[in-house]
Amino acid sequence: SILEMEVEQINKGKYEHYMQKEIHEQPESLTTTMRGRLIRGGSSKRKSVLLGGLKDHLKTIRRSRRIVFIGCGTSYNAALAARPLLEELSGIPVMMEIASDLLDRQAPIYRDDTIIFVSQSGETADTLNALEYALENGALCVGITNTVGSAIARNTHCGVHINAGSEIGVASTKAYTSQIVVMAMVSLAIGADTISSKPRREAIIESLLNLPEMKDLAQSLISEQSLLMFGRGYNYATALEGALKVKEVALMHSEGILAGEMKHGPLALVDENLPIVVIATRDQSFSKQQSVIQQLKARKGRLIVMCTEGDAAAVCGGSGRVIEVPLVVDCLQPVVNIVPLQLLSYHLTVLRGYNVDQPRNLAKSVTTE
Ligand code: AGP
Repeated sequence: SILEMEVEQINKGKYEHYMQKEIHEQPESLTTTMRGRLIRGGSSKRKSVLLGGLKDHLKTIRRSRRIVFIGCGTSYNAALAARPLLEELSGIPVMMEIASDLLDRQAPIYRDDTIIFVSQSGETADTLNALEYALENGALCVGITNTVGSAIARNTHCGVHINAGSEIGVASTKAYTSQIVVMAMVSLAIGADTISSKPRREAIIESLLNLPEMKDLAQSLISEQSLLMFGRGYNYATALEGALKVKEVALMHSEGILAGEMKHGPLALVDENLPIVVIATRDQSFSKQQSVIQQLKARKGRLIVMCTEGDAAAVCGGSGRVIEVPLVVDCLQPVVNIVPLQLLSYHLTVLRGYNVDQPRNLAKSVTTE
């Protein structure tokens, strides 16, 4: 009805689409996600994390034999982005499971496992079924959702809400960055008893507090049709998530590839026509990504390189397209790096004339298997 259309326009404010609004909202949604949870204070200048829904379970989590992340789609990718930090700060092996695959395999789950269920809606059938299965097997179940009172929030033993505000666009954008930030805070809380990593934890907290300052990257948008995305380390997840966004809304085939696998197959695809996004921001993977870029160039690859501000000339020597992003601490770089890829998929979709907020065949919350 006309009334519904008007209400929708009011909800979207100055934006044309929810997806566009939600991408731009990220500085605020990240602030809300962190509100009251990061403590930088007192005369001692101590920095710490307080997660009310988790604090009584931290000891049990620290004693678990392994931690398993379970999710689908974007929520799985967010967990993948947080995995290196959780491994580093907890010293516990962290496994990744796509909910449907865990169930298909009836994979072993033990009483001394901590299972973290990641879901924006908290109602995804596959994730919910995996939760039931893990509960039956006696594991400690932790929920990370955006929906208070959702099935996953209700049925897990403990958890953290991401507080990103309601996400309307079918493509998950602001929930992804808030999920990563929450899982970074969870990693900090689990690792909080280790004295040797204190300086690292404090540096991450400082960086978290500065994240919302990141400037709108909208202006740096590109309109090319990207297909492959190469990432590694902290930004393997960025490649998968960027490709998922392009697929989902721009209805274009796109593939996220672990750069370390390039020579094991994908290199055969490279020619002067196929656009390739290479994520080469500064972290311990940087020199390896530089050599990936050299190898792609040697094969005349059509490159779009994402690099740290000021690195453009050094990284791609003036040829190809460049997306520069601000530098943050390595484990939070995925929060910044996904934004231009979200914008890229948004603009590609609009240019191609497709429905951004409700891509064909997809539902916001997938409540059937
Ligand atoms: C994300 O853009 C997708 N719409 C989809 O992959 C989604 O992330 C997935 O269905 C999981 O949903 P959930 O986070 O609500 O569990």
